[in-house]
Amino acid sequence: MTPPVLEVENMTVWYPLRGGLFSRVERYVKAVRSLSFSLSRGEVLGIVGESGCGKSTAAGALVGLSPWRSGSYRIIGNPVHTDNASDWKKVCDKVQMVFQDPFSSLNPRQTVLEILTYPLKSRGISAREASQKAEAMLSRVGLAPELLSRFPHAFSGGQRQRIAIARALITNPEVLVCDEVTSALDVSIQAQVLNLLDELRRDMGISIIFISHDMQVVKAFADRVLVMYLGEMMEYGAAEQVFSNPQHPYTQALLKSIPTLDKTHPPKILAGISEMPADDFCGCSFAPRCSQREARCTEAPVSIRGASVQVRCVKALL
Ligand SMILES: Nc1ncnc2c1ncn2[C@@H]1O[C@H](COP(=O)(O)OP(=O)(O)OP(=O)(O)O)[C@@H](O)[C@H]1O
Ligand SMILES: [Mg+2]
Repeated sequence: MTPPVLEVENMTVWYPLRGGLFSRVERYVKAVRSLSFSLSRGEVLGIVGESGCGKSTAAGALVGLSPWRSGSYRIIGNPVHTDNASDWKKVCDKVQMVFQDPFSSLNPRQTVLEILTYPLKSRGISAREASQKAEAMLSRVGLAPELLSRFPHAFSGGQRQRIAIARALITNPEVLVCDEVTSALDVSIQAQVLNLLDELRRDMGISIIFISHDMQVVKAFADRVLVMYLGEMMEYGAAEQVFSNPQHPYTQALLKSIPTLDKTHPPKILAGISEMPADDFCGCSFAPRCSQREARCTEAPVSIRGASVQVRCVKALL
C-alpha cells in the first residue's frame, strides 16, 4: 500500500515569549497542540477555524517556518527529523507553500523570470533549461510567456497569485500548502485561482492543504476537513460528512455563523472569544463558549471519538 504523501502525528508548536533584562523565555504561546492529520495523493485537506486558532502555524510547521516542539512528520513514508536543517532542505522539494498576500510574497526587484528560475538554478539546473521550465510553468498557470520579463508591480492580485503558485510548483512538489490564497482577491478572481488549483490537482496529482476562513469554499473544494480550535483538532473527516452532519458544537457554531443574504436565516455569531485555558485545566478548551456544555466537559480530558470522522467531544454520537 502506498503511504500517504504527508503524515503528521501530534504536531506541537509553541512560540517562546521573551521578556525581562536578559530576554529570557517567560512563557509560551501554545499555538498548535498535538495535531494529527494526513494527506493522500491528489487530495485536498481544508483547515478551518477562527482567527488565531493555529492554522498558519500548522501550515508553517509543514515547511519548517514554525518551531516544532514535538511530534512526528513523514513525507511519503520517510520521517522528517524536524530538528535537522538538512531534512528541511529535502522537504522543500516535496512541500511548497503559497501565502495569503501576493503583493508581499513576490520580490518586487526581480522579474518573473528571475522569480521562477531562482529555485531551479539553486538546485543546479542550467539557465537555459530553467528558462524553458519557467516559460512552460507560466503558461500552465494561465499567463502568457512574454510576461516573463515583467516585474510583479505590473500584475494584478490574481495574476500575482498565479505567479506565486507557479513559483511553488516549479520544483515539482507533491504538496502545495495554500494559506488563505484567495482571501486578498475579489470573488471572480478567487474562482479563477480555485479552478487553477483544482486543475493542478487533477492534472498533476498535487495534494493540497487549503486554509481558509470561507467555509463555503472549503466545502466545495476540500475532500477532507480539519476543524481547529485553540491549536487543537475539534473535528476531522470527510468534508461531505463534516459539513452535512457536524458533530462538534464548535463546527456547528462555525457553520451557523456563515454570512448569508437570506434574511429569514441570519447568521448566528458565536459568542465569546477564544482564550487559552490555564495550564492546569484538563477539559475541553471550547467548553467555556459551548452552548451544550455539561459538567463532564470541564472535569476530565476529552478523548477523540470516531474513526472515519474524528471528534473531540464527550457528546459526539460516533
Ligand atoms: N511568531 C509568533 N510569536 C508568538 N506568537 C505567535 C507567532 N505567530 C503566531 N503566534 C500566535 O499563535 C497563535 C496562532 O496563530 P496563527 O497565525 O497560526 O493563527 P491563524 O489560525 O492562522 O489565524 P488567522 O486566521 O488570523 O490567520 C495566535 O495566538 C498567534 O498570536
Ligand atoms: Mg493565518
